[in-house]
Amino acid sequence: MREEVLGELRSIVGMDWVITSEDAIKPYLYDETPVPIRPRASDDVVVVKPGSTEEVSRILVLANKYRIPVFPRGGGTGLAGACIPTISGIILSLERMNRVTVDVENLIAEAEAGATLRDLMNAAEKAGLSFQPHPGDEGAQIGGLIACNAGGARAIKTGIMRNCVKGIEVVLPTGEIAKLGGKILKNNAGYDLMQLIIGSEGTLGIITKAWIRLQPIDAAAMTIIVPFDNREKALKAVPKIFQEGIIPLAVEYVEKRLVERVAREIGLRWPCNSGEYQLMIILSEPSEEALLSTSERLLNICESLGALGSVAAEARREQEEVLKIRSEIYTTLKPDMVDILDVTVPPSKLIDLIRAINEIEAKYGVYIPVYGHAGDGNLHIHLMRWNCWSEEDYEIVRRTIYDIAIGMGGTITGEHGIGYVRKKYLESFAGGRLLELMREIKRIFDPNGILNPDKVLP
Ligand code: LAC
Ligand code: ZN
Repeated sequence: MREEVLGELRSIVGMDWVITSEDAIKPYLYDETPVPIRPRASDDVVVVKPGSTEEVSRILVLANKYRIPVFPRGGGTGLAGACIPTISGIILSLERMNRVTVDVENLIAEAEAGATLRDLMNAAEKAGLSFQPHPGDEGAQIGGLIACNAGGARAIKTGIMRNCVKGIEVVLPTGEIAKLGGKILKNNAGYDLMQLIIGSEGTLGIITKAWIRLQPIDAAAMTIIVPFDNREKALKAVPKIFQEGIIPLAVEYVEKRLVERVAREIGLRWPCNSGEYQLMIILSEPSEEALLSTSERLLNICESLGALGSVAAEARREQEEVLKIRSEIYTTLKPDMVDILDVTVPPSKLIDLIRAINEIEAKYGVYIPVYGHAGDGNLHIHLMRWNCWSEEDYEIVRRTIYDIAIGMGGTITGEHGIGYVRKKYLESFAGGRLLELMREIKRIFDPNGILNPDKVLP
């Protein structure tokens, strides 16, 4: 990076917030993407940490002047390489902008982009409210969660980030600051640019602040593990639960051998040891009575569909441990992992998808760990390091799974996004005119192509 540019950056954010030493830059280069598929980060980058929206804006004006790529960065918990600086440029970390305030009357949190999910959850709770979804790692930052439209386990009742965000402040690649939406629950004024930016993975604008809908604190919650002796029975129960009008916070599908392994590795215990195929269901209700009656109805439905002995966790700590084990599956598998897929199909097709995965396992003689957000039809399928598999073998299996999902009316990614690692597959899902439109939109927002270049669009 030229000294002249560094000088201008220092004059915008202050001496301390332009980081050029190799050691201090290292933690900003990668995210949680599996190592075998992640792209190499450029070694000619500088980390800049603005303290205000105006500073972000001035950095983008500067970057446009010199045509310098800018890579916005949150908590670095992404799984598709969206924040990896693959080209020489500026890594723009929003970590210093981390304030959260809560407007109790409107049930809205105003959160700066660098606040973490944990900060948001804590602020909500302190104000006597809650942020019910759990869109991933609690160290993820608000800007990244919105830019990647994160989902996570507890998305059944409240939806994913897109459904909770009511407004964003965004700095456009050309430096203008825009406020889209706000503390409002309805907004029909023109095209919905906010929804366009949500999920654009840092390619259309840098989110600096957001207004996020909160929920009242439910008085009673319970995590129930419902085991079955086969996959189909487990997955068939999912739509039945919804049809009966039960709306849990989460309906996750897990396999016992996998969660038991994770629990062992992190020194916890998975509470349910019957049945290999299990649903992990989180109920959250406004009163103890409501919880009791909902859980009874839920257990009756599951039993009538062949569930074995269910186990309920009621103590907060116990429930947190179950969620922790579920959340750590990825981390446990990561050292031996080549890729994690997050294809999503209409929920009723999940059984067919898992059956297809079983066939692939049988054909190649490998074990493919699967689990996922069953209520959303969103399955995590892990390609592991298998002896003697070449890159080409992985590519064939990956393509096969994408084609199967698309053939079922699904999508190649329901959660982790395109980022860098899936660019080449976007065309098979949204090719032709759709891809052209996406490119044109990118060009309108970012005429010089400086913002997170090399991402999303092939
Ligand atoms: C999960 C991440 C990998 O569901 O999306 O655990
Ligand atoms: Zn997930």
